[in-house]
Amino acid sequence: MTLNRRTFAIISHPDAGKTTLTEKLLLQGGAIHLAGEVKARGQARRARSDWMKIEQQRGISVTSSVMTFQKDGIVFNLLDTPGHEDFSEDTYRTLTAVDSAIMVIDAAKGIEPQTRKLFEVCRLRSVPIITFVNKVDREGRAAFETIDEVADALALDVCPMNWPVGMGGEFEGLYDFNSGRLSQPSGDSKAFEGKTSDHEGLDAATLEEVLTPAGVNRLREEAELAQAGYSDFDLTAFQNGDLTPVYFGSALKEFGVIELINAIAAYAPPPRPQPSSKGNIDPSEKEVTGFIFKVQANMDPQHRDRIAFMRLCSGTFKRGMKLTPSGLGKPVAIHSPILFFAQDREIADSAEPGDIIGIPNHGTLRVGDTLSERNDVRFTGLPNFAPEILRRVVLRDPTKTKQLRKALDDLSEEGVIQVFYPEIGSNWVIGVVGQLQLDVLISRLEAEYKVDAFLEAAPYDTARWLIGPDSALAQFVSFNGGNMAKDRDGHPVFMARSSWDVGYQQEKHPDLKFSATKER
Ligand code: G4P
Repeated sequence: MTLNRRTFAIISHPDAGKTTLTEKLLLQGGAIHLAGEVKARGQARRARSDWMKIEQQRGISVTSSVMTFQKDGIVFNLLDTPGHEDFSEDTYRTLTAVDSAIMVIDAAKGIEPQTRKLFEVCRLRSVPIITFVNKVDREGRAAFETIDEVADALALDVCPMNWPVGMGGEFEGLYDFNSGRLSQPSGDSKAFEGKTSDHEGLDAATLEEVLTPAGVNRLREEAELAQAGYSDFDLTAFQNGDLTPVYFGSALKEFGVIELINAIAAYAPPPRPQPSSKGNIDPSEKEVTGFIFKVQANMDPQHRDRIAFMRLCSGTFKRGMKLTPSGLGKPVAIHSPILFFAQDREIADSAEPGDIIGIPNHGTLRVGDTLSERNDVRFTGLPNFAPEILRRVVLRDPTKTKQLRKALDDLSEEGVIQVFYPEIGSNWVIGVVGQLQLDVLISRLEAEYKVDAFLEAAPYDTARWLIGPDSALAQFVSFNGGNMAKDRDGHPVFMARSSWDVGYQQEKHPDLKFSATKER
C-alpha cells in the first residue's frame, strides 16, 4: 500500500508561484473547491505583521497544512511549508516529514535566498528535488542561464525534461523530451487547454506544421544543445538527491502541471525508511510508528487545544489505536485523528506510512515526539536550527515570572520560538529565525497568557549547541560562563557575539563541536 503514497512539499521564494502551483496541482487532483481557499490564504499572507491576519492564516492553515489528493491510483500528500515572510522552524521541520520536494523558481529571477535556504534543509536529508521553472509565459532569462544557475549554485546535476519554445510574448509551447509531445497555448488567454501534438523527435517535419519557422529553429538549436550539455535522467541519482530533473512551465497558464504530477508519481520515492535510535525504520514494519513534526494551536486563543501533525512512518494506523508518545511514557488512545483529504478535514479511520494524521490534544504532544506501538524507538533527525535573531524577554510585571516561563515553554514546544536560559542573569533569551515570529510571540504572550513583556536587544548574534566530552565541556564552561545558556532540554548552548567568535572558539577548542543544528 505504501508504494502508492507520495508525500512532498513545495519550496520557493515568495512570489515565485507556490500558491498558484498548489492550486493547479489540486485542480488536477480533483480537489477543485479547495483551490479558492489556497488563493485566499495566499492573499492573507501578504498582509504581514497584522495579528488578526496571522490568526486567520493560522486558522485556515490547519486545514491546508496538509492537502491530500488522489490521481491514477496514487495518493499525494502535499505538505504546506509556510516559507514566506513568516518563515520559521516550522518550515524546516515540515521538510523532515516529506520524501521529496518541488522547488519552484521564477524564470526571470532564478534562485532566490529563501529557495536556497530551504534547499539546504532538503540537502541535509538528501530529499530528492524536482525543479519547476515557472512563468515561462513571461519574459524570463534564457532557459540555459536558469539551468546553469541551479547546477552551479546548488551543486546538483541537472536534467531538463522539457524545453520552452520561446518565452513571454514569443512563447509557442513546451516540448517534452521523453515523449516528443508539444503542448501549446490556445484561446485568448494563451493558456494550456489541452492542445498537444506528437512528434518523432526534434528533426520531425511535423514540428514545422505547428510552430513558426523561427520557433522550430530555436527549439532544434537550443534543445540539441541542452540534451548534449546536461546529464541524462538517472533515477538513482535523483532519489539520492544528487540530480534534479528540471521542468519548465507556467503555473498560471497550466503549462507543465500535469507533467509535474506525473513526475512525482513516476520518479519521486514512496515513503522512505526513517532514521531512528534503533536504525532505519522501514515503512513495511508492522508496528505503527510516527513522529510529530508540527504543533498548531487552536485558532481560538481561549482554547488550549492543539493539533499535532504526525507523519506515519510504519504500520497501518487504525482509529482508536493506542500509541505511546516518547515524551510521556504512557500510551494514549487516538480517538479522533484527522486525515486531510483536500475537500475537508475528515476523521481518519486508517492511514498508511507517508500519510499525515492530525491529533487533537491539550499540549501533551510536542514537536519531535515519536509515537509508537512499541516503546523503544525514537525518530532522530528532527532538527532545531541556530536562531538568527536573539532577544531578551523582559517582564513589565516581575510577579509574572511563572506565567512567562510556562508561556515560553509552551511556545517553544509548538516550535514558535526557541528559549535559552542563561547560566548567569535572569532574563531569558529567545531565538527565532524570522522577524514575524517575534510579533507572534508578543501577541500571544499577551492574548493567551496575559503576560505583558517586551523584547530588548541581546548582545548575541547566534547560538551554538555544544557537543563533546564532559571534561572539555566543563573546561569551556568555566571560562565562558557568562556566555553559556541551557536550552529547554537542559543542553548546553554557547551564546556567541558573532560568527567570528564561533570560529575562534572552535579553533581554540577542537574537542568540542559548535553545532548550528540540534537533532532531537
Ligand atoms: P507565492 O505563493 O510563491 O508567493 O506566489 P503566488 O502563487 O501567489 O504568485 C505570485 C504572483 O505570480 C501572482 O501574481 C501570480 O498570479 C503570479 N504567477 C504565478 N504563476 C505564474 C505564471 O506561471 N505566470 C505568470 N505570468 N504569473 C504567475 P500577483 O499579481 O501577485 O497576484 P494576483 O493578483 O495575480 O493573484
